[in-house]
Amino acid sequence: MIAEAEGSADTALADRLRRRIGRDGPITFATFMEAALYDPEEGFYVGNPVGERGHFVTSPHVSDAFGALLARQVEEFWELLGRPDPFDVVEVGAGDGSLASTLLGALSDDMRRATRYTAVERMAPGRHALATLGLRTATVIEELPPGLTGCVLANELLDNLPFHMVRRTERGPVELLVTAKGSSFAFVAGPLSDERLGPATQRLPANAEGAVSLAAPDFLERAISLLQRGYIWLADYSSPTPGWAGPVHGYRRHRIEADVLAQPGSRDITAAVDFDALLRAADRPGVTAWGPVLQREALLSLGLREWDEAARQRQFEATANRRGVDSIRAYSERSRAAQLIDVSGLGGLRVMCVGVDVGVGVDAAPTSVRPTVPSPRVPGSTPGRPREGPEAR
Ligand SMILES: C[S@@+](CC[C@H](N)C(=O)[O-])C[C@H]1O[C@@H](n2cnc3c(N)ncnc32)[C@H](O)[C@@H]1O
Repeated sequence: MIAEAEGSADTALADRLRRRIGRDGPITFATFMEAALYDPEEGFYVGNPVGERGHFVTSPHVSDAFGALLARQVEEFWELLGRPDPFDVVEVGAGDGSLASTLLGALSDDMRRATRYTAVERMAPGRHALATLGLRTATVIEELPPGLTGCVLANELLDNLPFHMVRRTERGPVELLVTAKGSSFAFVAGPLSDERLGPATQRLPANAEGAVSLAAPDFLERAISLLQRGYIWLADYSSPTPGWAGPVHGYRRHRIEADVLAQPGSRDITAAVDFDALLRAADRPGVTAWGPVLQREALLSLGLREWDEAARQRQFEATANRRGVDSIRAYSERSRAAQLIDVSGLGGLRVMCVGVDVGVGVDAAPTSVRPTVPSPRVPGSTPGRPREGPEAR
């Protein structure tokens, strides 16, 4: 739940937002978040914030095992679709290309020849980094021509798409808008900005507040319509309250921050994803959804144990041959890969897969979302938040 949060507004972006609010009135939290994260000059994502030296880490930044195992899933998509050539792999929210480079490096020669990889990243510095890696880039998924055969991948994209804040009151649903208050920002109740927010608000307990993402199911619908045949693979934090996104929080220098209004542009703003809304968006003829399953289950199904065994062999060989640095390196790779399946960290993310015109039978089901591996109970209400050290969000 978000209280009437306030914060000092001392960035130039804050100044622009205050002037806009002064001129046009309060803005939705989605509009505020859009500016705070994606303003082309001062948005948080201008600075390529992902990585140990940045503000938070994601699976591809923690271990190459993530890209290597996802490559197996992508290769299976290719096989399930009958090895089409070209085979489009569209990664949305590709960031600095960490996932793209490991994934492409792990594909078989046959598949690499057939693959047309497009890295979609809305921020210019990220696109520049992707182009430097030699990748074909696009700014938004809408730039791509529909009718593709292949797959769409998105790791930790949806929890960063702008969401709305609403409250259920005795007099009906209201939206929590952002207004300027002195040199700060504060929430103020106003009318709903989109009629789709009404039914969602009615699901809240009386007088409760919550976050609703219209953008996440919209994104899934666009991804579905991009594909003539293929799969969509999504990994993200899952909301502990079905039917709601959240909890809403900020992220800066590997620490959670409660105040999401202060100094827009200086921190990440994120809310765990409502997978029920995604399942509803995928509920249409010709479309099949699998999952969500824990990332732990997904990566174990894709062979994380075998990946670890190979690294263990490298470690032991290096030790036996007195190559101490190589031994330490292999040990470190193994412990980093273990973080991907730790359910109190990244292993607690959820993976969902959507098939477009691929059939519904067991034969069409991707390995990563077949829940065959028993997992420990996920502790706490927010899956996937390590307590100390360089944090995943
Ligand atoms: C949390 S980061 C994840 C980056 C990367 N997928 C990873 O796992 O490290 C989210 C990324 O998605 C990008 N992004 C957000 N909305 C987008 C959109 N609609 N289209 C393309 N990229 C988007 C952001 O700029 C950012 O680089």
